[in-house]
Amino acid sequence: MQIGIEKLGKQYPAKSFALNRELCQLLVYLGAPDVVEKTLALMDQSDEPAEQIWYALCLREAGTWTPAQREHYFSWFAKMQDYHGGNSSKKFLARIRDLALEKLPEADRPALLALAEKVIEKPKPAPLMPARPFVKNWTLPDLEPALAGVNQGRDFNRGKKLFGELLCAQCHLFAGTGGLAKGGAVGPDLTAVGSRFSAHDILAKILDPSKTISDQYASYLFTMKDGSMVGGQVTEENHYLVTVIVDPFSGAKQNIPAGNIAKKEKSPVSLMPPGLITTLSQDEVLDLLAYLQNGGNEKAKAFAK
Ligand code: HEC
Repeated sequence: MQIGIEKLGKQYPAKSFALNRELCQLLVYLGAPDVVEKTLALMDQSDEPAEQIWYALCLREAGTWTPAQREHYFSWFAKMQDYHGGNSSKKFLARIRDLALEKLPEADRPALLALAEKVIEKPKPAPLMPARPFVKNWTLPDLEPALAGVNQGRDFNRGKKLFGELLCAQCHLFAGTGGLAKGGAVGPDLTAVGSRFSAHDILAKILDPSKTISDQYASYLFTMKDGSMVGGQVTEENHYLVTVIVDPFSGAKQNIPAGNIAKKEKSPVSLMPPGLITTLSQDEVLDLLAYLQNGGNEKAKAFAK
């Protein structure tokens, strides 16, 4: 048996999770001396909760631990506190934890349980958009009479600032800025929007994004054969697999096997949210439109003092 452990141990960790999953289980079963250390390292490296959970599950049975390894292992449960992977995932994790605890001497358990349950304070993410007070549910007829004012006396810096504060820069590239969403450009590059759209049309798009949706940036709804649904922009589509961006801001993607898809439809709803300019005064709306219309050119006539 010794030779078996050594030979298998050399293969671990392997390059694929599929192999590691088997090896981890086997090596724990065989009592390989370094399986705990190697598996803890794999848990640290993996971004996939499902993989980490598998490793944690394997390790619950491991026999030989150093105190530091134990602490490392039980601290992992604390890191998983915010994980929501289905209804029963919390219970499932608690069950793994308890099984692992049961393997330990009674006296060691309370301290390790405390580690597993320690509440981790996460730094709060910076707010995407400073809270701005609501001004008005603007409609096209409200603003149409004022649109002539887009061409003169506009405040360039305010228009630019609003492009960032109203989240536009998250989804759109513009004159070398923006495109902040992790998944890349969610919406079209707006640098040349002024040559394709009048101020009126830009405004109409902002007020009612779903009225006309550009095909290339549309999102799609997939109905699976089991009735479940997945939606988002499609980044890749081939005979076997469709890759969908399920969260435009984080760029989180999901692969769906093409064979599971029953129906694909263009979503009637734009990814661009409505109501983005309800916190703007009329003058601010005009500044934003002038900024977009003029391609971010500070020297344009509209900004002349
Ligand atoms: C959550 C992402 C998102 C945000 C935030 C967003 N947009 Fe968009 N926008 C899109 C997407 C996706 C499209 C293309 C699909 C469509 O036509 O609806 C688009 C299309 C547009 C278009 C039409 C461009 C074209 O070439 O067809 C304009 C103009 C526009 N957005 C302006 C803005 C402005 C101004 C803001 C900020 C007030 C903004 N968007 C905020 C995602 C976004």
